[in-house]
Amino acid sequence: MLNIVKMKKMKQNGEKLTMITAYDYPSAKLAEEAGVDMLLVGDSLGNVVLGYDSTVPVTLDDMVYHSRAVRRGAEHTFIVTDMPFMTYHGGIDETLRNVRRIMQEGHAHAVKMEGGVEICLAVESIVKSGVPVLGHIGLTPQSVNQIGGYRVQGKDEQDARRLLEDAKALERAGAFGVVLELVTEEVAAEISRQLSIPTIGIGAGRGCDGQVLVYHDVLKYDSDYREKRFVKTFADIGAEIRRGIGQYVQEVKSGQFPAEKHVFQADDHVVESLYGKRKVDTRS
Ligand code: KIV
Repeated sequence: MLNIVKMKKMKQNGEKLTMITAYDYPSAKLAEEAGVDMLLVGDSLGNVVLGYDSTVPVTLDDMVYHSRAVRRGAEHTFIVTDMPFMTYHGGIDETLRNVRRIMQEGHAHAVKMEGGVEICLAVESIVKSGVPVLGHIGLTPQSVNQIGGYRVQGKDEQDARRLLEDAKALERAGAFGVVLELVTEEVAAEISRQLSIPTIGIGAGRGCDGQVLVYHDVLKYDSDYREKRFVKTFADIGAEIRRGIGQYVQEVKSGQFPAEKHVFQADDHVVESLYGKRKVDTRS
């Protein structure tokens, strides 16, 4: 299984890291079978699984519950689980208690936290307690109400400098990697060049050391899926699911399903003793 030492080596060797989100047993199992390097139990589950319009309502209990299911589905893959909204902004004791739940009850190998310089004290304490931390800067969805929407980051000089400072501070605090979300390609490439730990981009261009995407985006697994410029859809599972369920509905209504091969027959003597010689007509 991949670990944080191997990840750093992969960066040194120019080998790209692949990561995809997973939220339950089957999605994790399929992603592991497909050969992904790392799984992220992202709090994006708030949007794509629980139907919220942001990640803000996602709770620690939600993350623990989904993380355990993912671990059951992917026993041989490195799993990073998101610390949800406001679970690492109180005192260090409270933060460590929350991290403990993600690791011991959620069975993750590492946690991910959104933020730069301002969370570095917490990152340092978590790393010192033996838990690997993946940073997350750029567009940080938990702060959507403060940022005022989902905007590309690092567009002006000041913002670009801030992002580099945040990334370096996270590295100094002991993070094993940094997710760069919706960051201009040039800025993300420069951050990747200046850090010794891997950067994992989502909408951050080609210069990152790895890429992460949301499962439901990669597979178009949502009926009101909206195209996003930084996403490539690799399969249209939503259309296939609609087609399959539609056919099931139609075959039940028309009496095509269940057919003879789908039913279980009682022995003749049982039918006879129950209902006499009469052959039971099971069709209405
Ligand atoms: O929650 C999530 O899925 C994420 C990715 C978008 C990086 O944080």
